[in-house]
Amino acid sequence: YPLKHPKQQDWSFAGPFGHYDKGQLQRGLKVYTEVCAACHSMKLVPFRTLGELGYSEAQVKAFAANYEVQDGPDANGEMFTRKAVPSDYFPSPFPNAEAAAASNNGAAPPDFSLIAKARAVERGFPQFVFDMFTQYQESGPDYIYSLLTGYEEPPAGTKIPQGAHYNPYFNAADVLAMPKPLSDGQVTYDDGAPATVDQYSKDVTAFLMWAAEPHLEERKRTGFMVMVFLAIFTVLIYLTKRSVYANKE
Ligand code: HEM
Repeated sequence: YPLKHPKQQDWSFAGPFGHYDKGQLQRGLKVYTEVCAACHSMKLVPFRTLGELGYSEAQVKAFAANYEVQDGPDANGEMFTRKAVPSDYFPSPFPNAEAAAASNNGAAPPDFSLIAKARAVERGFPQFVFDMFTQYQESGPDYIYSLLTGYEEPPAGTKIPQGAHYNPYFNAADVLAMPKPLSDGQVTYDDGAPATVDQYSKDVTAFLMWAAEPHLEERKRTGFMVMVFLAIFTVLIYLTKRSVYANKE
């Protein structure tokens, strides 16, 4: 069966003035913590960066303390576990890669630190030059959203292997090892946002984009100022050229 193209979404972080919606990121963190973190780690993201989502230092400390991390060796050369502090990273729920694969029918759940960037489409030269201005910038988030909302009944007559789940948005095959992770009402929001698979998927995707590119807003702001500068500079250079080459007496 043909794989489906990701469903294009309107993301708050799209476009030259794109910005993250902090309320959405906080909801996304909740979905990640309560659902996805049972299988997916985020080993490059330290708890301290959650301050950027609008949490106080005390809240970040309390959040980190919910996790246990490996540390050591201590004075006796032993490894030990301790409560996480803000400088620690989102740990893996599995002790090692073999255990992760073994508990998921041989397919280890990928780490989430860069997944929103890693699953983006890159079309190569020359399209990538123009893709700076197209929806391909958000193809990673579009893909994750589509995957999460894309579980459906397989077409009649399809044989689904044991432990696999049908999803035509998965980019490698039409089945994957991840069972449908979200269902309506599963996560409680306290800001009145709808408790639906659609909303959860958007929120956790936005959160994963933030995790993969926390400095997106700054990058876009700087890029815009660079373009303004180049525009003004072009005019100045043109006027200089006219003056230098003018047919003066
Ligand atoms: C793969 C997202 C929850 C197990 C993936 C992928 C994404 C993802 C984006 C990568 C697909 C690809 O390679 O293109 C999420 C999100 C979750 C979630 C956002 C929470 C809402 C879970 C849970 C489990 C799980 C709870 C375990 C029960 C897996 C496995 C794979 C996977 C085993 C590898 C699938 C394969 O390669 O066949 N997930 N996931 N995920 N996830 Fe999740």
